[in-house]
Amino acid sequence: MKNTSVTFKEAKAKGIKLSMLTAYDYTTAKLVDEAGIDAILVGDSLGMVMLGYEDTLSVTMEDMIHHTAAVARGAKNALVIADMPFMSYQTSVYDAVLNAGRLMKEGRAQAVKLEGGLEVCEHIKAIVRASIPVCGHIGLTPQSVNAFGGFKVQGKGEEAAQRILNEARAIEEAGAFAVVLECVPQALAAKITHSIGIPTIGIGAGAGCDGQVLVYQDMLAMYSDMAPKFAKQFAQVGSQMKEAFAVYKQEVLDGTFPAAEHTFKMDETIIDKLY
Ligand code: KIV
Repeated sequence: MKNTSVTFKEAKAKGIKLSMLTAYDYTTAKLVDEAGIDAILVGDSLGMVMLGYEDTLSVTMEDMIHHTAAVARGAKNALVIADMPFMSYQTSVYDAVLNAGRLMKEGRAQAVKLEGGLEVCEHIKAIVRASIPVCGHIGLTPQSVNAFGGFKVQGKGEEAAQRILNEARAIEEAGAFAVVLECVPQALAAKITHSIGIPTIGIGAGAGCDGQVLVYQDMLAMYSDMAPKFAKQFAQVGSQMKEAFAVYKQEVLDGTFPAAEHTFKMDETIIDKLY
């Protein structure tokens, strides 16, 4: 059964924890979906882990639509959420609705995610009015990396913690079906989780959230440019890939690949007739 934004809200009511992973292509989306993960986030983290940018700011609507459409084709059951890239919604409520609509229409996302607190609540309301489910994202919001002065934990002090709690309440009030809490202290994330009726999805926010999300390259140890403390490595896929690539190179060099079983046969008397 295909998960929806409604399934998400029901899971919180039943106390069932939600699992979310990123994916950016058909093959990975299929693997994540077949593993039974509840939702796939086509994150704008694709700018870093897929396209090699130093942050997420250069990601375009065209990038997001292209990757979301590939993921949507691979996700049979998982809810597909597409990130709204930098400057696709901050500019106006009109742009926010238009671009959220493009992610649904052209990318076949089932929901969109956007970063920010009180300043994006009007945008969330308008997108929800257009029947597009919205997931909020507060705490460390990577599109604001320049304003934050780096990728830093948010909400440690009283004023900042209160602001983030207020933002979570406002995002729920605006009509979002879930909210991502990124890099906030565990106790604050737990407080927010108990204070609002929509699911909180944590990344670097501790076990008190209603669900968890990770970037798949982080949890498979495939991306070495940055190693966040919260990203547990569930497998060493990066080193396995490198090892396989190196074995392939060696077998090509020494002629052991391709072997007979990897080749196609023909009647070799035909070869003798060729001139
Ligand atoms: O872009 C992304 O992958 C995200 C997650 C880190 C939550 O927003």
